[in-house]
Amino acid sequence: MPALPPRGCFLCRVFNPLLITEEIFRLDCSWPGPVPGAGQFFMLKPGRSAVFLPRPISAALWETEGPPRRISFFIARRGRGTEELAALREGEGIEMSGPLGNRWVDFLPPGGQKPVALVGGGLGIAPLLSIPREQPGAVFDFYGGFRNNVRTSGERSALAGAVEGRVRKRVLAAEAGAAGEIRAGRITDFFDPGEYGAVCVCGPDPMLRAAAEKCRAARVPCYVSLERRMACGTGACLGCTVETLHGSRRCCADGPIFGAEEVFFTGRHRLETSGSGRAGVRRKQTPEGSLP
Ligand SMILES: Cc1cc2nc3c(=O)[nH]c(=O)nc-3n(C[C@H](O)[C@H](O)[C@H](O)COP(=O)(O)OP(=O)(O)OC[C@H]3O[C@@H](n4cnc5c(N)ncnc54)[C@H](O)[C@@H]3O)c2cc1C
Ligand code: FES
Repeated sequence: MPALPPRGCFLCRVFNPLLITEEIFRLDCSWPGPVPGAGQFFMLKPGRSAVFLPRPISAALWETEGPPRRISFFIARRGRGTEELAALREGEGIEMSGPLGNRWVDFLPPGGQKPVALVGGGLGIAPLLSIPREQPGAVFDFYGGFRNNVRTSGERSALAGAVEGRVRKRVLAAEAGAAGEIRAGRITDFFDPGEYGAVCVCGPDPMLRAAAEKCRAARVPCYVSLERRMACGTGACLGCTVETLHGSRRCCADGPIFGAEEVFFTGRHRLETSGSGRAGVRRKQTPEGSLP
């Protein structure tokens, strides 16, 4: 039996909760457990909570020294679980288990070869932020897409600002129109996969598909981080399965990162995607879709 990767489950403390926009906030937490890798996530739930299940949230930034070390999460308020996380105040307790899932580094070629494109949509940028720090020998270009460039300017500076100085090139786009360095349109229209050795993508499913299509046409490896509803986060409940070329896989334990060719394959068993993705923040909640 393969050895379990190091992970932990602790009651931790919240530091510096920060409202970025009406919908998005940043939560810094103390973490005494193993250092995460870029792409991994934690199951989070307030120490005092009325929800039954913790919610999966990607680790965005963290201190490497420690333990304890500080880990930052960027979170959108969608329903009961994330509303409870948004209500946490400085010093309050938060249950954290992780780090969970696979890492971008498990897929990327060793540094020093062709540059790598990091393509993120909205909060899908969060799990890409720490890749350049993990691979100091490699060259990265960053492409960040947003829906709106005025209402989400705080989101843009918090997320895209975190990669500044760590990447060779930074391209930003908003579907709502151009402004300053922001180009008008979808971010997937602004990168040419042919320039890269690999492309890492995270965001809403339509964006993942568009990026995967471009990479397939250019014969460039593309890796996507998928978002599914999760209950256990550790591979036990089979509640987060993803249809792949090689059969059903658990998004939490076999992913969340997959080769795009594996999940967006064409053929009889084409993947049906149901998630709205990290950038798909919904204001009105549908109770029947909520987790306990
Ligand atoms: C690996 C992974 C990493 C993630 N990282 C982040 C992150 O960094 N930041 C962040 O804000 N969110 C992230 N998410 C999404 C986050 O887990 C969900 O938004 C959260 O679980 C919603 O819980 P809730 O109780 O607030 O909403 P609920 O009350 O459970 O649901 C509210 C509404 O949102 C819909 N919904 C909830 N979750 C999803 C989903 N995953 N896909 C599609 N629709 C959904 C429901 O159908 C319902 O209509 C991640 C998810 C995964 C799987
Ligand atoms: S959430 Fe339980 S197997 Fe993935």
